Amino acid sequence: MNPIQVVAVTGGKGGVGKTNVSVNLGIALCRMGRRVTLLDADLGLANVDVLLGLKPTHTLKEVLDGDIDLADVVLQGPEGLQIVPAASGLHEMAELGPAEHAGIIGAFSEIAHQMDVLLIDTAAGISSEVTSFLCASQEIIMVVCYEPASITDAYALIKVLNQHHGVQRVRIVTNMVRSDEDAQNLFNKLRVVSERFLDISLVFAGAIPFDESLRRAVQKQQHVFQSYPNSNAAKAFTRLAEQLDSWPIPAMPSGHLEFFVEQLVQDNRAEL
Ligand SMILES: Nc1ncnc2c1ncn2[C@@H]1O[C@H](COP(=O)(O)OP(=O)(O)OP(=O)(O)O)[C@@H](O)[C@H]1O
Ligand SMILES: [Mg+2]
Repeated sequence: MNPIQVVAVTGGKGGVGKTNVSVNLGIALCRMGRRVTLLDADLGLANVDVLLGLKPTHTLKEVLDGDIDLADVVLQGPEGLQIVPAASGLHEMAELGPAEHAGIIGAFSEIAHQMDVLLIDTAAGISSEVTSFLCASQEIIMVVCYEPASITDAYALIKVLNQHHGVQRVRIVTNMVRSDEDAQNLFNKLRVVSERFLDISLVFAGAIPFDESLRRAVQKQQHVFQSYPNSNAAKAFTRLAEQLDSWPIPAMPSGHLEFFVEQLVQDNRAEL
């Protein structure tokens, strides 16, 4: 089995573009020939499938109940992107018990041979549900926008990750920026305060410009490469995918997936 990279996309604040980054980064990686599975870990309010106009036929709940395998839940998205949808609107899914949570993740080992990269789109906020996904991942992409609430919420999440969970590296994607200068200023704001008060390094991973094409693509329920392949946003997602491709490959022979599974199970046990 080849080493699987496990990369979580988060942001602290709602509406900063986590799902758009997850989907379009996933598509960009697929276009480079990587096999990508995207896990919608926003269990309360799933939207990866909505963004791509896909209709889930089965839910993770059925996997938890032992009725079907995870492979039956996986949706075949565009460009070969595989999607594990959360159960949209199912209130109970947002309140999974530790064993069920672990059950979901355990089921991943079954589909591990089909992927090079596992991307995880997380919910907003700094709840333990979000941090457990982040701590189990190999890399964390934090999406931030140039607005005070995004910066303070991202900092709050970085602080929790560093002080309570020992996370020492977070990669920053600046989203909806108007210029390269804005992107650098935004990154520097967050880096200066984080590195002054915390023992963590922030790494600039890339900037996605504010681009109407992205909004229009969302309205059409398409990824941006489908509707606007030459848009600035599409180009930026390709650059971000090339960045990700240069990040360290996990040392373990099976990659990071096994660690991811074990960490989540342990994390949930700790909360019992
Ligand atoms: N670079 C961009 N340019 C223009 N619009 C954008 C950009 N990124 C995201 N948006 C728009 O911002 C809105 C929120 O994006 P998205 O749903 O990806 O955010 P989110 O962080 O996943 O939100 P939630 O916290 O609700 O899960 C969408 O309407 C999307 O089209
Ligand atoms: Mg989202």
